Amino acid sequence: MRTRVKISLLFSGMVFCGLSLLSATNVSADKPIHQVSSETCKTCHKDIYKQWKGSMHANSTAFKDPIHGTFYRKVVGDPGKEGVKTKSGKYPVCLQCHAPNAARDKKTKLDSAPAYSEGVNCVACHTMKKLVGVDATKGKLGLKAYETSTKLQGSGRHSNNKLASLAASGDDFGFGGEEDKKPNPHMGEAVEVDGKTIQSLPMESNPSHLRTSDACMGCHDKRNNAHGVPLCATGDEYIASNAQVDCLSCHMPMGKGFADHSMGGGHDMGMLQRAVVFYMDSKKNGDNINSTITLRNKQPHTMPTGAPFRNLYIKITAYDKDGKMVWENAKGHPAKQDKKAFMFLTLVDADGKPTGPPTAKGQGSDTRLKAFETRNFEYSIPAKDVVLVRAELYYNLLWPGLVKKFTKIPKDVTAPKMIASAENSL
Ligand code: HEC
Ligand code: HEC
Ligand code: HEC
Ligand code: HEC
Ligand code: HEC
Repeated sequence: MRTRVKISLLFSGMVFCGLSLLSATNVSADKPIHQVSSETCKTCHKDIYKQWKGSMHANSTAFKDPIHGTFYRKVVGDPGKEGVKTKSGKYPVCLQCHAPNAARDKKTKLDSAPAYSEGVNCVACHTMKKLVGVDATKGKLGLKAYETSTKLQGSGRHSNNKLASLAASGDDFGFGGEEDKKPNPHMGEAVEVDGKTIQSLPMESNPSHLRTSDACMGCHDKRNNAHGVPLCATGDEYIASNAQVDCLSCHMPMGKGFADHSMGGGHDMGMLQRAVVFYMDSKKNGDNINSTITLRNKQPHTMPTGAPFRNLYIKITAYDKDGKMVWENAKGHPAKQDKKAFMFLTLVDADGKPTGPPTAKGQGSDTRLKAFETRNFEYSIPAKDVVLVRAELYYNLLWPGLVKKFTKIPKDVTAPKMIASAENSL
């Protein structure tokens, strides 16, 4: 470590002597911070790395996310090629959010550098300095909605002490005790860890950005398709809800002493299960059973939120004493026979006919649960032989039509997931 520091000091001293030495400095120069791989951060921030690695942020590129990959290849092109342009000849806007480090370098071959294929990686979020503003119609989205920095941005819990301790231990960052003490590369010098040189990763404290929803809004506020139709609008939904809690209180709770980086949503069973309150009340009334199902959205954004093809549906079934099903609200999916039990957004073409996100000219009906909405569903079920009524709530990442169409996407991704259930015995 010492020798390396000396060498770089030597070079910077000699730069004044001539241009050839300037290029010598560049040979030993560090990578620009936005090209540093998350594997580097993993050396020390093991627990955070693990949480991030399992998140959709680490799987946000067309290579890793099969749903995004299907759309990207269809609408934009090959994620393994350089110089890919949209139909209107522009740099693909998708990458401003799905592969921000590649967007910063205007590259489209996403496997040409780890920091590109890692998608929304450590340095992507930790080099965003300030939310300048989102303007979906002008393509000021994702990375372009932010002022960025060549220094890492810290949340300020540690850097308030100017990262004073050159060596840190404890389990905050997944360090395993005294022996596993790791030096701190955020002090302006390269460091040596386990025989590996880690380049200087300078950092500044920026809590006003990183401890607020600003850290998320550039990519999550809203996104329009080429015809100006809003596709995802989580941020707008949130603003309209007048909520006082920010995204981080739910999506980055403090666990193990540091902010959790799992950032789950529609791909995360745990988050889906805690998203709603779901219960049923059934009473016999003459020849019928009157069942009321209550569904409450606990979020300051719609449920489901995000990509327009997310949807929810309820299945209600009644059983006799032998466990045989004697009644159901619909055969299979309720989309046709019990439309109110299907909660989804419709995108429509110029004639008002349902269509996909790239071709939509407008929004049709929107029956998703609004922020904090409570909705009751009433059913009258023939009481004969019924001893048990059961209600199940399903979440599906894709519209049923797309599930059928996208046969190459793994079944565990496209299958509806039961996220809540309720039963009443009679
Ligand atoms: C050689 C070990 C090491 C590596 C590699 C490393 N860090 Fe750190 N990092 C630390 C230490 C030590 C601290 C300070 C912890 C303390 O003071 O308790 C820290 C703190 C931080 C903080 C918190 C700052 C604050 O304001 O609270 C962030 C954010 C961070 N690192 C991000 C990164 C990112 C992103 C990378 C990869 C580009 C990275 N680190 C690579 C050791 C490392
Ligand atoms: C650089 C843009 C960017 C920033 C900044 C960003 N995200 Fe994301 N986020 C994405 C993208 C892209 C995806 C979708 C990945 C996919 O499904 O392919 C995503 C997905 C998610 C999901 C859905 C996960 C799932 O299970 O489907 C959640 C929740 C989320 N982000 C929360 C956050 C929060 C909270 C913040 C702020 C701390 C944040 N994001 C900041 C781009 C970003
Ligand atoms: C989607 C954006 C996003 C990504 C990706 C991301 N971070 Fe963070 N990180 C944040 C935000 C926002 C905070 C501040 C949270 C808070 O303090 O409430 C934070 C906080 C931290 C902290 C301080 C934790 C604490 O509570 O003291 C460290 C260390 C850190 N990040 C390291 C990393 C590393 C390493 C990676 C990659 C493996 C990474 N981050 C990826 C947004 C991100
Ligand atoms: C009260 C807790 C809470 C708050 C506050 C909150 N969320 Fe969520 N969010 C959830 C839960 C629970 C889910 C899972 C259910 C769902 O997908 O709607 C979720 C889902 C998501 C998803 C997943 C969408 C998808 O397609 O998979 C995104 C993106 C997201 N939230 C972003 C945000 C952003 C951005 C903010 C701040 C503006 C925010 N959330 C505020 C609880 C919260
Ligand atoms: C403004 C940022 C932004 C832009 C631009 C953007 N996306 Fe996304 N995309 C997201 C976020 C955030 C999510 C995940 C959370 C959600 O559902 O909102 C997402 C999710 C998706 C999903 C769902 C992935 C899954 O796992 O279910 C697909 C498909 C997708 N985007 C395709 C695209 C395509 C194709 C483009 C370019 C034409 C694009 N996106 C442009 C932010 C963006």
